[in-house]
Amino acid sequence: MTNFRLATFSLITMAGLAMTACSPQTSTPPSTEVSETETNEAQAVMPAERFFTADQFTYANYQDIVVKHAAMDLTVDFDRKVLDGAVTIRFERLSPDVQTLTLDTKDLTIKTVELETSDGWTPATFAMGERDSVLGSAMNITVGAEAAQVKITYETSPKAEGLQWLSPAQTAGKEKPYLFSQAQALYARTMLPVQDTPAVRMTYEASLRVPDGLLPLMSASQDGKDADGNWRFSMPQPIPSYLIAIAVGDIKFKAINDTIGVYAEDYILDASAEEFAQTPEMEVANTELYGPYRWGRYDLLVLPPSFPYGGMENPRLSFMTPTLIAGDKSLTNVVAHELAHSWSGNLVTNSNWRDAWLNEGFTSYVENRVMEELYGKERAMMEQSLDMEGLKRAISDAKRPELTQLKLPDDMTHPDDAFTLVSYIKGANFLFFLEDRFGRDAFDPFLKSYFNAYAFESVTTEDFLAFMDANIRKDYPDAVTDAEIKAWVYGQGLPSTARNPQSDAFDKVATASARWTSGEITAAELPTANWSTHEWLKFLNDLPDLTPAQMKELDDTFSLTGTQNAETAFAWYMQAIKNGYAPAMPALEEFLMSVGRGKFIYRLYGALNDNGQVDMANRIFAKAKAGYHPIAQRRIGDILAK
Ligand code: BES
Ligand code: ZN
Repeated sequence: MTNFRLATFSLITMAGLAMTACSPQTSTPPSTEVSETETNEAQAVMPAERFFTADQFTYANYQDIVVKHAAMDLTVDFDRKVLDGAVTIRFERLSPDVQTLTLDTKDLTIKTVELETSDGWTPATFAMGERDSVLGSAMNITVGAEAAQVKITYETSPKAEGLQWLSPAQTAGKEKPYLFSQAQALYARTMLPVQDTPAVRMTYEASLRVPDGLLPLMSASQDGKDADGNWRFSMPQPIPSYLIAIAVGDIKFKAINDTIGVYAEDYILDASAEEFAQTPEMEVANTELYGPYRWGRYDLLVLPPSFPYGGMENPRLSFMTPTLIAGDKSLTNVVAHELAHSWSGNLVTNSNWRDAWLNEGFTSYVENRVMEELYGKERAMMEQSLDMEGLKRAISDAKRPELTQLKLPDDMTHPDDAFTLVSYIKGANFLFFLEDRFGRDAFDPFLKSYFNAYAFESVTTEDFLAFMDANIRKDYPDAVTDAEIKAWVYGQGLPSTARNPQSDAFDKVATASARWTSGEITAAELPTANWSTHEWLKFLNDLPDLTPAQMKELDDTFSLTGTQNAETAFAWYMQAIKNGYAPAMPALEEFLMSVGRGKFIYRLYGALNDNGQVDMANRIFAKAKAGYHPIAQRRIGDILAK
């Protein structure tokens, strides 16, 4: 016991010392909708205090006054490429003296602002702050001491970074336009005035008017069309603003089971339902490990190819890239990932982007556990191994060493810096390390109790560490030391206690590859007959510098140029750029013209830039740019400016 107390005390002290912008807060009682019997959980010990880390990416005065609910009433205007209408915001004062509600906005046109008072809705005083290129403009509304609701009429900008408006020609069907949003991390404020910080959670509802023949969807319960022809949505669980999402298009639905289904354009609907057919099993695996799925339905929306991410965990409706539809379920870990966010991220949320690993590292860990459950240990280890190679590269490529910490530095300039493989894979590996030390029998119920204890709350790294101290570390005081934890969370690079993922299948690939590169065997003699996508990725990623003749031999033997699996194609084109293999360049160009997924295109443009192909990169970008999402346009612009 004495040991434990010392350990706990020193860890919290250590966290406090390491974090200048981190101060204790009063504990709030855990809110759980699910009863203890349902979760079958012993009551967790709640730490005596909560920790606070300021969100430097919001103007909101969310420590004094918080938004509780947003009701949107919007027309989706495809001709003008704007959302046009009003949002009514209900708020609560936390400090008695607060007179101003400060919201985040970016490129919104504010038309009127009214407060609900005892005289009804009356015009309110407000002032817009100067525009910052990252943060946008603060909107300061004088709310006085009484009002609890403000109604803002506004419209978005056609250039809103969180919205992509596709012309009919940019869709597969070619007949109808398409709109989709991407609010994470700082783009909800381009869609509506909002406290755009993950520290604040609110419920929302919406009423949307869209042109006939188009289906609107939101990250909410889809409540159908009302008598006036407006589409209604409601999100009764409190969520952070970055999970507000909308899509409108010629979208069809196919059920996978009673509570899970796929939305997509017609051309890819059946293939998507087949590719994602194991989503129900993933939900079962997740639920068995970490407790009930608390969001009602779970659907997947397969977006047009310009969607800039692999997936986005919008609640009840994950947004997915069509590049996952490989035909062989080889890329379904992205579904496992977005679904896992229903626990890590959406249920328990990082309260600021310096703690992004609480979302992405936990989720990458849970993803891998679910993959192991569904597909077995070998596939899970292959994915861990590929991820670990990526992490090592990310650590050596880091712009600053501080960006290789799990708790990111307080002078991080953009949340983009938080979404590197450090948060994802170093974060997941911290949990693999803890799992190895405590054992699954103790660690699995512990994580489940964490998701239950902080359900529908936003937390910091220090909250997690304190919860770990008060629970599993109290029971197993010798399993890990403070110094080991500190090295993972506040230290740079990869700690010496990191697991080394071993895969027999990958060892065989490495051996075969060495025999081919040394000239001992021909490409045709490589034992590829039963290689999975993962083995191909291992082989391609690890190739040494090759001669044009060797590249040609691989291509002639395996038809890699133009291959349909987007991950394999990406890995091959990276080698083609590195080795100056000209025959692959037209197919690479075609890939860059048709795929907007950032994971692929940022690195392909970066590799062209770094390998003396700046002109080619600029020429392709000039042609492809209009089809890319605003987020991708900005990122590639930055890459090519270097
Ligand atoms: N939440 C992220 C996507 C994201 C990250 C949006 C940063 C905005 C800013 C999502 O859950 C994610 O991580 N997607 C990954 C897939 C995953 C398997 C690593 C992706 O997009 O590739
Ligand atoms: Zn994620």
